[in-house]
Amino acid sequence: MSDRSPRPFVLINMAMTADAKIATTDRSITTFGSARDLAHLYALRATADAILCGARTIEETGATLGNGPDPTGRLRKKRLRNGLTEYPLRVVVSGSASLSSKATLWKTKTAPIIVLTSSRAPAAARKRLTALADAVWTNRGTSVDLKSALERLHSERGVRRLLCEGGGQLNGALFAADLVDEIHLTVCPLLFGGRSAPSIFDGPGFDRLTNATRWHQTSSRRVGDELFVVFRRGGSDQ
Ligand SMILES: NC(=O)c1ccc[n+]([C@@H]2O[C@H](COP(=O)([O-])OP(=O)(O)OC[C@H]3O[C@@H](n4cnc5c(N)ncnc54)[C@H](OP(=O)(O)O)[C@@H]3O)[C@@H](O)[C@H]2O)c1
Repeated sequence: MSDRSPRPFVLINMAMTADAKIATTDRSITTFGSARDLAHLYALRATADAILCGARTIEETGATLGNGPDPTGRLRKKRLRNGLTEYPLRVVVSGSASLSSKATLWKTKTAPIIVLTSSRAPAAARKRLTALADAVWTNRGTSVDLKSALERLHSERGVRRLLCEGGGQLNGALFAADLVDEIHLTVCPLLFGGRSAPSIFDGPGFDRLTNATRWHQTSSRRVGDELFVVFRRGGSDQ
């Protein structure tokens, strides 16, 4: 802990099949949880200062990272009562700045949007996103330095609790850098299979059991045929 600058508490929330897939190989099915699962997502968003998402998830799901349906403004008011902003800050990771200008995200005016990118991205692509986003943060290197970005979100934007909504590649980078504190999984009664179908943790992964991060289960609840499980970082004795 001692080498760490303060960063937000990071939660990941994912709906997955029984084989840990989060979409089909052809990505034609990206949303498959129940209404209860969606309610769980919105409830978590209501506790977060910021939402983090990968570029492909933004494009393929049409996510806008807002409060969800809130016709009476109840959620907005609750956020304010809890000392949060009306809507969560929206943060999108796009290392090569490939994030589409046509994404639905740009059409919704809730909270500011910050794009995290890297110097690998062509200058023209970064300029394009600078015209769309409220801020574009670029770090040197070929990928986004998520640790530094989280620390900056903490120090400059006051983000204390950050909800990551995937996808598999972004989750993989966060897990590899050991930047995740809590995982909320909704295990759905489906199997997608497919070697290249995105899963909750993509990328190279860990090569040895000793390198694998350890988690303990803090809750598990079955609702209908879905299982809602929460894991916290660390062994059960921590
Ligand atoms: N079931 C669920 O709960 C759930 C939740 C979320 C997503 N999904 C599904 O998952 C799929 C998307 O997952 P995905 O793994 O393909 O994509 P993703 O993680 O959403 O986005 C990948 C993109 O994000 C950027 N990125 C991620 N990590 C980065 C890093 N460390 N450094 C630089 N850039 C980084 C890159 O953008 P650039 O290309 O610009 O470099 C990369 O191409 C979609 O089909 C979506 O529907 C399902």
